Amino acid sequence: MEKQTTAILIGAGNRGMTAYGNYALRYPNKLNFIAVAEPITYRRDKFAKLHNIASERCYDSWEPLLQEAKFADVVFVCTQDQMHVEPTLNALEKGYDILLEKPMAHTLEGCYKIIEGVKKTGRILGVCHVLRYTAFFSTIKKTISEGSLGNIINISHRENVSWYHFAHSFVRGNWRNVNESSPMILAKCCHDLDLLYWMVEALPKRISSFGSLLHFKSINAPISSPDYCVEGCPIEDTCLYYAPRIYINIVPITQILEKSEIKKFKILANLRKKHQKILAVLSKPIKLLQSLRYWRDWPVEPLYSGLPEEASEDYSDETKMRILRTSPYGRCVYKCDNNVIDHQVVNIEFENNVTANLIVHGFSEREGRTLRIDGTKATLIGEFFDSGQKITIYNHFTGTSKEIFSEKLSIDYSGHGGGDFSLVDSFLETLTNPEKSQPLTNANETIESHLMAFAANKARVKNSVIEMNEFRMRLI
Ligand SMILES: NC(=O)c1ccc[n+]([C@@H]2O[C@H](COP(=O)([O-])OP(=O)(O)OC[C@H]3O[C@@H](n4cnc5c(N)ncnc54)[C@H](O)[C@@H]3O)[C@@H](O)[C@H]2O)c1
Repeated sequence: MEKQTTAILIGAGNRGMTAYGNYALRYPNKLNFIAVAEPITYRRDKFAKLHNIASERCYDSWEPLLQEAKFADVVFVCTQDQMHVEPTLNALEKGYDILLEKPMAHTLEGCYKIIEGVKKTGRILGVCHVLRYTAFFSTIKKTISEGSLGNIINISHRENVSWYHFAHSFVRGNWRNVNESSPMILAKCCHDLDLLYWMVEALPKRISSFGSLLHFKSINAPISSPDYCVEGCPIEDTCLYYAPRIYINIVPITQILEKSEIKKFKILANLRKKHQKILAVLSKPIKLLQSLRYWRDWPVEPLYSGLPEEASEDYSDETKMRILRTSPYGRCVYKCDNNVIDHQVVNIEFENNVTANLIVHGFSEREGRTLRIDGTKATLIGEFFDSGQKITIYNHFTGTSKEIFSEKLSIDYSGHGGGDFSLVDSFLETLTNPEKSQPLTNANETIESHLMAFAANKARVKNSVIEMNEFRMRLI
């Protein structure tokens, strides 16, 4: 029989509520949240209700919760980037095993403190590098390990952040300002740097990098544009980033559905875009259509954080319009307090002399990663989009190609191409399997991607090549 793990959630935001909360709702025999710490009343109450948490186990912050003697098996730390270190160290001291959201910390010093904390307490700690747990990247890893590509010579990896995701998170939202969050290359690409390290199977030797904030700045603001889109912007009909397009007309969601190869998703997109009145009528009896008409998931949900409770269940166009008058998500994208860069390239040479480059930018037509791995025997080309995934191998000797993996868009419960749920599965297995001392994405393994991110940031800012041995040694 499966052992049920009891858990505490610190931070019932997007990740805590949807990724890990949904896992527990789907697999109650495996995971049971018995406490939550969250300052936003609406989120705390919603999480408590969904998971049947007693009121005395609901806390408005992690501090009072962790003052109590240990009362659960694990803690999920899902607070924002700059709030990872303190709750994690305190929870380790209390004897909890931990699943910690990425990045481990927003500074290298913070990462080392966590590594020390794990070493000192002997607890288990997994970092949520979810992509390693996807079927897509696991297939690539296996293909490399089996030698199907020969020796790897070069990897070219792109993180194509969609125009809407970038504006939402890195211009208007939580990761827009490095003083409140972390460098974009860490926040967005620690996953990708982790994958490169994992696939190449060698430590990074040296790194160079370039990039800047090119587009989302005041010099590009349209003439006479107001601070908030809904205050009468002269280009509201043509601006890609006009807030009601994104949060009321949910253009990002319809674009994802339209790009899917599945016909029913295309029909839904068409209904949402062109037949609003029919959708309004049909959405009354049909629940699926109700959520399409009154969209409340990402990217809309963060609009509602911290709002008075009476507004929190009202997803009508009128209420959203009212919220956009003052919400950070209603701001003109050219007039925000953003300072993280919007495009970057990173060049890496590894200890085994394999070279790789990573390109990240916020202007993609769709959300996803693409990569090309060139080996001595074959080339692998992968597409990991939210609208579908595909891996093809091109054999040099035979001149033939073979598709070894393909996945269409599916509305299941697990985000990141299935990685969110597989990560939790694997973490829970580590807790009960005496042969596993730490999860695949443990603190010591994770530090390599974070070192690369901090080094890439330094290389970019200082316009220099970073020798990783020196960089690593300065902080040990
Ligand atoms: N693994 C991934 O692929 C992935 C994807 C997205 C985000 N993330 C990371 O997950 C983390 C959370 O992101 P999110 O989008 O859920 O953010 P979020 O802002 O939606 O959630 C964070 C929550 O923490 C709460 N919080 C603030 N102070 C607190 C305190 N003192 N005690 C307890 N809770 C407190 C906030 O009120 C908020 O609800 C971030 O570090 C982010 O970078 C990881």
